[in-house]
Amino acid sequence: MTDNLELFGATEPSRAALVAIKKEVQALRTQLNAWAHQYYVQDAPTVPDAEYDRLYQALEVLEFQYPELVTPESITQRVGGAVMEGLAPVRHALPMLSIRTETDTQGSGAQAFDARVRRELGLQDSDPLVEYVAEPKFDGLAMSLRYENGQLVQAATRGDGEVGENVTHNIRTLRQIPLTLPSGVPPLLEVRGEVFMRRADFDALNERQRAQGAKIFVNPRNAAAGAVRQLDSGITAQRPLSFFAYGLGAVTPADEGGPAFATHYVLLQTLKSWGFPVAAQVQIAQGASELIAYHQHIGAARDQLPYDIDGVVYKVNALEVQRRLGFVAREPRWAVAHKYPAQEMVTRIEGIDIQVGRTGKLTPVARLAPVFVGGVTVTNATLHNLFEIRKKKVRVGDQVIVRRAGDVIPEVVGLVPGAPARPVYVPNFQMPKQCPVCASTVVREKGEANHRCTGGLFCPAQRKEALLHFAARRAMDIEGLGDKLVDQLVEQHVIGTLPDLYRLGLVSLLALERMADKSAQNLLAALQQSKQTTLPRFLFGLGIRHVGEATAKDLARHFGSLDAIMDAPEEQLLQVNDVGPVVAHSLRTFFDQPHNREVVEQLRACGVAWEEGAPAERAAQPLAGMTVVITGTLPTLSREQAKERLEAAGAKVAGSVSKKTSYVVAGEEAGSKLATALKLGVPVLDEAGMWALLAPP
Ligand code: IVH
Repeated sequence: MTDNLELFGATEPSRAALVAIKKEVQALRTQLNAWAHQYYVQDAPTVPDAEYDRLYQALEVLEFQYPELVTPESITQRVGGAVMEGLAPVRHALPMLSIRTETDTQGSGAQAFDARVRRELGLQDSDPLVEYVAEPKFDGLAMSLRYENGQLVQAATRGDGEVGENVTHNIRTLRQIPLTLPSGVPPLLEVRGEVFMRRADFDALNERQRAQGAKIFVNPRNAAAGAVRQLDSGITAQRPLSFFAYGLGAVTPADEGGPAFATHYVLLQTLKSWGFPVAAQVQIAQGASELIAYHQHIGAARDQLPYDIDGVVYKVNALEVQRRLGFVAREPRWAVAHKYPAQEMVTRIEGIDIQVGRTGKLTPVARLAPVFVGGVTVTNATLHNLFEIRKKKVRVGDQVIVRRAGDVIPEVVGLVPGAPARPVYVPNFQMPKQCPVCASTVVREKGEANHRCTGGLFCPAQRKEALLHFAARRAMDIEGLGDKLVDQLVEQHVIGTLPDLYRLGLVSLLALERMADKSAQNLLAALQQSKQTTLPRFLFGLGIRHVGEATAKDLARHFGSLDAIMDAPEEQLLQVNDVGPVVAHSLRTFFDQPHNREVVEQLRACGVAWEEGAPAERAAQPLAGMTVVITGTLPTLSREQAKERLEAAGAKVAGSVSKKTSYVVAGEEAGSKLATALKLGVPVLDEAGMWALLAPP
């Protein structure tokens, strides 16, 4: 009872109780810090989140009851809260230097650096290779973290190298930066490194900003820089920042009990053991050739890294050799940055064109003043869709940032931050109402960002996709009409629209590259065979948006004939099983375009045919409401054919057996499904039994 009262502050706790509580608080913090380190720095959590949360809450409760036990180092203080009036200047104990930059792409930068180092050291060709450490050059902002007696006391930006800004309140919110160091660290320790934002974190942040109608950041670097320089640390706490340590600033000298590292590599490993994140890509390299290999290797892996880099940094490994080499002006002679081609550049939008993709999507593409970015000259960049244009607020004539990473299509990232306003009025971009390729109606569905051409079968931009879809096994099943052949047929203008398929002859086929007599014959036979089809296959083959196989079957069953479907108003279409407003509207838009109807008529004229039934037959479907499972090999029908028959009779054909299954049709080598059916008492039929079911006396 007294314990409880104490916990709720009803009475003053005894001194012994306070000591116990303090111990408990410390134990909780130690445990939580260890787990947070595993989670945030090592990326290897060892306990479920719920367990972490449970202890975290326990600590919060104790700190609420005993505010005198709260310290700035407590893990609960990471959520921020301190609000500054301005960022105070901080003079760096040791200046934060910059490094010389090499920009060649071949490796001569590494060679020149190694040659300079060797010359400065007076090494002959016969002398051993110089040992280096190679590291990624992180694209964020430099940070100096000052620890006194193991406590973080100050975090400062680089500023001009001599004087930076005090951002301690913000940096305290970074889970990757330790607030307290283990015992045994030097009394004064300045750790230097880069604060940055991982690409995935950046994307998620922008996603959240977008949802809240807040500012969209142009790139991870800008987002990180903005977050670090906030006056309100509560804002920084909500921005997902990361950190990598890459060196030291001022440290207790060795003769005053400070550390005496022999190499930069050991220094980094030691920082890691003290709880600082160090990039896994840091490597030792012997001589210029290994530096070049590193440059190439990281360059190739650049787009797979979870964060942006703009180059690599080479550093002489032995610290004694670094001291001998010293500095020129404000740059060390022992380090160099070897850059990669920039992935982002500024250029001007000269116009906005529309591209129509294989599936009918209209993509606005910015025509750009040519710019060298990501290693190539870029003249076009995607703007994705109308909403992206609106969000990015770009118009023709604007100066914009263009990004090209790896093989990815170049994109317009956004306006240059802080660029002056447009000198003249430029109208906002509008999507065309008609497809620029085929003049069919352009639509945008509710809840969709993309505009689409409705010209499906007719639009030259969509021809290849339409042909492949039409020929697919589950549609018209035209064997031998694959990717490569369709490419040739369309590119050489042999085929314009679907009906042209059925007008193909031996002569035009044999004129194609790599087309043997036999394959041409086979294709013509396959085409001939495909003409006799079913209404669902034909309907599905037309490639009407949102009309998949199942919907095509439902439509065929409901209406009985293609003409009935083509003429059905939306209200009637809506009466079909599983047809909602989106599908109904899509069907209507499709069949309202005269050229789509024309394609259907021409296909019929070419001899494409299927059985049609009156809609009344629906009622007579003997298997309506039943679920059938087919398993094993049937004597005469393929499984696909059996499925078609059963579905035509109104049955639903399912893939697994349950108590609700009406029948299992089993052929040879039926396996577990048959066993399940027998176990559950589901009636089992052979093919003959199935026929009997389909044609009741
Ligand atoms: S070492 C004396 N290592 O590049 C050498 N810098 O001009 C001090 N940077 O803005 C820098 N990654 O923030 C070093 N692995 C790395 C780096 C790195 C990025 C940045 C640094 C500074 C600039 C150096």
